[in-house]
Amino acid sequence: MTGGMADGSGPSLRITILTAFPAWLVPPLTEGVLGRAARAGALAVEVRDLRAYAHDRHRTLDDEPFGMGAGMLLMAPPVLEALDAVAPRGEAVRVLLAPDGEPFRQEMARRWAEAGHLVLVCGRYEGVDERVRRHVDRVVSLGDFVLMGGEAAAWAVVEAVARLVPGVVEARSLAEESFDASLLEAPQYTRPALVRWAGEEAAVPAVLRGGDHAAQARARRRAALARTLVRRPDLLEGYEARPEDSALWGEILVAAATWAAPGVDWADRMLY
Ligand SMILES: C[S@@+](CC[C@H](N)C(=O)[O-])C[C@H]1O[C@@H](n2cnc3c(N)ncnc32)[C@H](O)[C@@H]1O
Repeated sequence: MTGGMADGSGPSLRITILTAFPAWLVPPLTEGVLGRAARAGALAVEVRDLRAYAHDRHRTLDDEPFGMGAGMLLMAPPVLEALDAVAPRGEAVRVLLAPDGEPFRQEMARRWAEAGHLVLVCGRYEGVDERVRRHVDRVVSLGDFVLMGGEAAAWAVVEAVARLVPGVVEARSLAEESFDASLLEAPQYTRPALVRWAGEEAAVPAVLRGGDHAAQARARRRAALARTLVRRPDLLEGYEARPEDSALWGEILVAAATWAAPGVDWADRMLY
């Protein structure tokens, strides 16, 4: 799963995942875009077995919690030893995955894509001994739900970060994406131009089928602004306004006054 650039310069990002179940992560990391990127040397992803850092005869990683808690916890010493073995403090961004962490966001993915070395610690069972938190840089959650272990969360973080590493996906695909400049992406369509389904007809907006690229860019921007306003107004706090936006906001307000009604996704009409 590791790689190096053809010119010998080495991958621009290394990601190390510490887990009690390394085999579970091999297929997602070796297949598809991630596998190809690693083979091409754009990034290196390594999965380390936490059991290699457990020193008793049975390679025990977990024990019962103090104070009558249910289930088992990953013990601190093997996790801390693994962390120091793969990247001494300060030489990598060390992240513990936990449901009570700060929400993982695109802006973190952007920063970590340039971090040089990212280390992800996957919890299991009832979680990880609390004292591990003192030795990581961030505790990050994928959302308000509880997974069985950190492996699926690590996979998601690797996907989000890796695609921002130069050479992993085409630069063109990264332009104007959701969360780029704090906006959601405008609706997108492909062939056929007309879909008839369940008694309904839905056509691709005419502006997207025409050849006027300036009009398309304007319509897409307007739809992105409107969609963000309706679905994720919280994002607009960090949004960078462009000079042309004030006219677009005016059109959005008129549309909202004309079309807004319960059950009507008026924001998506902004492309028409
Ligand atoms: C069953 S969970 C532990 C839940 C813990 N007892 C609690 O109530 O917060 C086991 C492991 O899965 C991972 N995990 C579960 N949900 C997660 C989430 N939403 N985001 C990131 N990691 C998560 C963490 O690594 C966690 O240590």
